[in-house]
Amino acid sequence: MSHLQASNLFSVKDRVVVVTGGGSGLGRIMTKALDANEVSKIFILGRREDALQETISQTINGTVIPIKCDITSKESLEAAYEAIAAQTTHVDLLIANSGIMGPLMKPPQPAADGSLPPLSQVRDELFNVPMDEFNKVLNVNVTGSYYTVLAFLPLLEAANKRRPAPQPGVLAAPTAQVIITSSIAGYARKVPFSFAYNASKSATTQLVKMLSTSFAYYGIRVNGISPGLYYSDMANHIFQAAGITGQAIEDGSFPREMIPATRGGSEEDMAGLIVWLASNSGGYINGNILVTDGGRISVVPASY
Ligand SMILES: NC(=O)c1ccc[n+]([C@@H]2O[C@H](COP(=O)([O-])OP(=O)(O)OC[C@H]3O[C@@H](n4cnc5c(N)ncnc54)[C@H](OP(=O)(O)O)[C@@H]3O)[C@@H](O)[C@H]2O)c1
Repeated sequence: MSHLQASNLFSVKDRVVVVTGGGSGLGRIMTKALDANEVSKIFILGRREDALQETISQTINGTVIPIKCDITSKESLEAAYEAIAAQTTHVDLLIANSGIMGPLMKPPQPAADGSLPPLSQVRDELFNVPMDEFNKVLNVNVTGSYYTVLAFLPLLEAANKRRPAPQPGVLAAPTAQVIITSSIAGYARKVPFSFAYNASKSATTQLVKMLSTSFAYYGIRVNGISPGLYYSDMANHIFQAAGITGQAIEDGSFPREMIPATRGGSEEDMAGLIVWLASNSGGYINGNILVTDGGRISVVPASY
């Protein structure tokens, strides 16, 4: 067999993985994809045990272990870490994927004559959102992701210590990796009036860059993914606002000016990306943010 065949290039065999937010949406797809491709163990974290169990029921190889965890609590992260450390000597890949959307303000609608609503009205609507609600988004998406990475550093380091001594002409398995789920909302000013979420995802993207630099000399790689629109509990309302039901993975589901691919992200789109990043051929990727959005970031008009 050639070392350039897909089965070797994209092998994730025997990896040990942790996925936060593995009980739904993108985290569930990632878990199903890695389970289907011969990883050794996947620990999925989240607050809802029933959601974690539902993910397990959708996997085929019995690799998934649920761990109840709230990533906004250091105690909860430490307890999750201890529970996982009791079941594995190392973690090859940590996917800090948990996130929330938070308050989404309706953009100011012009009056029948096209005039803007008074600024005072817009200001009041925004100002009425309690600061706690705004802070909660930053707390989960930024602070929670950051402390998740810190919590798992020892098990990631342990994965690197298991790597064999270099041999001439032999490519070793990749070094340990963190993948953080950010969003194209962190780049674009789209999804208007979603101030807390968009600001949080800009911060998340910066977190990826800073963490990749800070831990580069420890051999721990940090990458980010920035999805566009994938059907999930969180994204459901955006689909609904566009008058679209279901996953919308068929061509023609979305207007081209909203998503040039004319469809939502599919399980295959996310599974392929995460398996590649986790695989042997993803080993040279470090400090990258990978956009998976069918071209949405390039064209989305502000009204979407
Ligand atoms: N779907 C999209 O189109 C899209 C686009 C761009 C970025 N994203 C990002 O993708 C990630 C996953 O979102 P999703 O779309 O899959 O939505 P989702 O189905 O709502 O998933 C969010 C996950 O985060 C977990 N979570 C929330 N708060 C948590 C906490 N305090 N502690 C631990 N886990 C927590 C939830 O589990 P529990 O409630 O059980 O704790 C849930 O499984 C998020 O970071 C989101 O911002 C999604």
